[in-house]
Amino acid sequence: MLEQLDLTDFRNHAALRFRPEAQFIILHGANGAGKTNILEGVSLLVPGRGLRRAALGEMARKAGAGGFSVSALANGNQFGTAVSAAMPGRRQVHINSAATTINDLAEYFAILWLTPAMDRLFADGASARRRFLDRLVLALDPKHAAHSSRYENALKQRNRMLGDGQQDAAWFDAIEARLAEHGAAIAAARAKVLEQLSAAIEAMPPSPFAKPILTLAGDGLSDAATLAEAYRAGRSRDRAAGRTLTGPHRADLEVIHAGHGQPAVNCSTGEQKALLLSVILAHAGLVKQIRGAAPILLLDEVAAHLDPDRRAALFERLVDTGSQIWMTGTEEQLFVAAGSNAMRVHIADGTLS
Ligand SMILES: Nc1ncnc2c1ncn2[C@@H]1O[C@H](COP(=O)(O)OP(=O)(O)OP(=O)(O)O)[C@@H](O)[C@H]1O
Ligand SMILES: [Mg+2]
Repeated sequence: MLEQLDLTDFRNHAALRFRPEAQFIILHGANGAGKTNILEGVSLLVPGRGLRRAALGEMARKAGAGGFSVSALANGNQFGTAVSAAMPGRRQVHINSAATTINDLAEYFAILWLTPAMDRLFADGASARRRFLDRLVLALDPKHAAHSSRYENALKQRNRMLGDGQQDAAWFDAIEARLAEHGAAIAAARAKVLEQLSAAIEAMPPSPFAKPILTLAGDGLSDAATLAEAYRAGRSRDRAAGRTLTGPHRADLEVIHAGHGQPAVNCSTGEQKALLLSVILAHAGLVKQIRGAAPILLLDEVAAHLDPDRRAALFERLVDTGSQIWMTGTEEQLFVAAGSNAMRVHIADGTLS
């Protein structure tokens, strides 16, 4: 739970200080007021590019000096991430004023989000679904961040070697050993989380939200030796393609609507949203069970797309997660059913009231 959030020169917020005092934090206000920007600020407290996947340069306030900072108090610790005008491409991280790395934040926070852009999750390519899956995994297994970034770095290096027509077998062996090591850890973590999550979904009480069946699609290679052999055997094919065609970076999360057996991509917009909500709700319970603290949930514009009954059911289920839940909407009216457990904040032009 965040006890305080400070945004400085972040997007349209010059200097925002906010102290959450309820389980639900409801941010309401006109289009463009800065609601999603606040959620984006919170989303930078975990590894990754945040909920918009924006470049750092886009996040610094246009009329500001060039840098920005996001800082939060939680469990007596102070966490911050900042970009300075002098080093605009580098995100710095500190915990209690000691510099640390972004991956370390995963040890302290689990943060999940649903945004309007994720309405396209099932229609878009596999990479967005893979990122969604990896956020679910990261929230349960903080080490996933380091394995993922080491894998990405090794992959970039191998792809560069392929593009350069590099033939040095020993060099490939070395880089592929790293890919295999971290790739196996990634595959194992994903498989474990999908198993736990499927069991948690199965155990969920009946709800108006569609029940998903989750499976991991891909080449299915999971142990380090098999992966290393696949990279080695794929060198000339990959050289022709100019990139690495096997490995966990090619996996996909498949989602099926258990009620009627249709793949999520063929489901209605409302059904797709409900499938994602089911995943988030089951996952939140799992995080609480395994890590002892529920994840922070950022639900951007989720209420607006649900009918009143489903909205009320959602709030009820969200209370049970024990999560701190940040929600946005243009109308305060949408959140009536959240009851007294909610702090309602009006946002206008980057200021709170
Ligand atoms: N780097 C920046 N500096 C200053 N303002 C910015 C920056 N980036 C985005 N904005 C402004 O922030 C505003 C959008 O804020 P945000 O997306 O948080 O709105 P919102 O309240 O969520 O609106 P909606 O209800 O439409 O979703 C826009 O007016 C945009 O121009
Ligand atoms: Mg918004």
